Amino acid sequence: MEKCLAPSILSADFGILKEQLETIDEAGAQYVHFDVMDGVFVPSISFGLPVLRTIRKYTDRLFDVHLMIVNPENYVKEFAEAGADIITVHAEACKHLDATIDLIKSCGVMAGVAINPATPISDIVHILEKVDMVLVMTVNPGFGGQSLIPYTLDKVRELSVLARQKKLKIDIEVDGGINMDTIEDVLEAGANIIVAGSAVFNGDIKSNTEALLAKME
Ligand code: DX5
Ligand code: ZN
Repeated sequence: MEKCLAPSILSADFGILKEQLETIDEAGAQYVHFDVMDGVFVPSISFGLPVLRTIRKYTDRLFDVHLMIVNPENYVKEFAEAGADIITVHAEACKHLDATIDLIKSCGVMAGVAINPATPISDIVHILEKVDMVLVMTVNPGFGGQSLIPYTLDKVRELSVLARQKKLKIDIEVDGGINMDTIEDVLEAGANIIVAGSAVFNGDIKSNTEALLAKME
């Protein structure tokens, strides 16, 4: 599977977001990771549809929308219409995950399922055939700048083996605490979509992006 970098704009400077999106685009980041938080499923409130609609025109990169919200099924259609290319919902936030994945795909966008650190791979084994991507949270969701939780690497490995055994063409995304010190570990474990927020937006964005991409070659 192709290795892609997905900078999380949660860590961006929202006063110059257009310029910062152009910088990561020009530096070669393939995705833009868009962290939607409702203050209920996770302790923080971030941003939502108006921001997505605004920034959609600033880059053609894939918009990777991570819904850290309760009842995500209520917003899937609007996020698809606003410009999401992939919509990822948390298994822990869905009463009817199978139906929600079907709903996402009926909107013509790719479907992802996310699991928190303590949620086992076994909770999503039956949905793997239907999704395009699995997001293995490597921190407890809600904040940027946290440290990767080491045991989550075992889950990435387990998922990678399972996908191979089942001959599934799914992307494995990791999210939280990914930086120059941890990126090789997650790649080795089998992740191919790498979310990085503070490691990209804290400091020189262009060189941070290029350095992480160089580790992914
Ligand atoms: C955390 C978000 C992550 C976060 C990553 O809840 O889902 O995408 O922005 O931030 P870093 O890369 O700084 O850990
Ligand atoms: Zn995220």
